[in-house]
Amino acid sequence: MKNNGVGRFAGNTPEQTAKMEWIKIFETRAAADRALAENHPQLLVVHGQRICVVKRDGNLFAVQDKCTHTGESLSKGTINFLGEIVCPLHQYQFNLKTGRENGQRSRDLECYPIRENEDGVFILI
Ligand code: FES
Repeated sequence: MKNNGVGRFAGNTPEQTAKMEWIKIFETRAAADRALAENHPQLLVVHGQRICVVKRDGNLFAVQDKCTHTGESLSKGTINFLGEIVCPLHQYQFNLKTGRENGQRSRDLECYPIRENEDGVFILI
């Protein structure tokens, strides 16, 4: 089982975290690779939540789609040479692993762990 080992749930209470569950987002890793272009943010709506998923250097990352600055959709953004997601509206840049905005001008993004195994690719939300 592969887990990208990242994930931070700022502001969640222990009760909220306990309610989180692994949701299948792709039947197989091959299906994820077909659906996701390298360094091209993709919007997924998972149980009503807008999630921005990025494939980079063989790893999958998932962050909240809504920019913490003024709410633009990060899946419309780009990935820079540092592997940060760049918001299309004001170009704030967020680390895909930690969610931190590199100028600390805006609240960090929520990051969602992704894991994959023989049953599929899953996100913890
Ligand atoms: S809305 Fe994303 S940087 Fe302003």
